[in-house]
Amino acid sequence: MDEQTVFSMPRIGDPAPEFKAVTTQGNINFPSDYKGSWAILFSHPADFTPVCTSEFMAFASLEKQFNEANCKLVGLSVDGLYSHIAWLRTIKEKIEYKGMKDIEVNFPLIEDIKMDVARKYGMIQPNEDTTKAVRAVFYVDPKGIIRTIIYYPLSLGRNFDELYRVLIALQTADAFNIATPADWRPGDDVIVPTAGSCGTAKERMDSKDPDVHCLDWFFCLKKLDKETVLKKVLKK
Ligand code: BEZ
Repeated sequence: MDEQTVFSMPRIGDPAPEFKAVTTQGNINFPSDYKGSWAILFSHPADFTPVCTSEFMAFASLEKQFNEANCKLVGLSVDGLYSHIAWLRTIKEKIEYKGMKDIEVNFPLIEDIKMDVARKYGMIQPNEDTTKAVRAVFYVDPKGIIRTIIYYPLSLGRNFDELYRVLIALQTADAFNIATPADWRPGDDVIVPTAGSCGTAKERMDSKDPDVHCLDWFFCLKKLDKETVLKKVLKK
């Protein structure tokens, strides 16, 4: 394996690298099995470790919420299938944490003993750990394009509220051709693009649209109510 393959890092806007894998839910072909829906491919360092256990419990209890936003979850670590199965069974049978118990993980967890997938996705970051994947999160859209990448180190458990917020913000930006400002949540004002479809800076500043207001020529906001966002994204 050459240096390029060992340390390849897919980027935002790239097609998600293709792979076939064995998982706790059978074989998968990524991303083609997921065409038409969003997918979150995420890695964790190791089975039977505490931070990862807390994350899997959090993700499994939110799976329905992600599915309702047309998003499927796929986990990965460089452990083998039998380790995955034993760990997920232990979680279900024994672990009670922050009100979560009897948690069943129904999304696929990829075995990647040879680190083929982890290397393809830049999940092995040798200065953090040479034998474990970091906590990577790849958002892949319904066309198989990587839209967001988030990396966390081994010691830091992910914020699942943020992972969900990112999914909804990406879908909202696509559906309404807008951008979302810092800390945006459904119901907050959104940012009107400053180039192309919305006319010149002067036209935007002079807009008679009561839902648009500009802080300056380069920073225009528009109301987008929560109900409209959720109706589009969650089909509610
Ligand atoms: C954990 O999930 O607890 C963990 C895994 C690998 C290194 C450090 C912590």
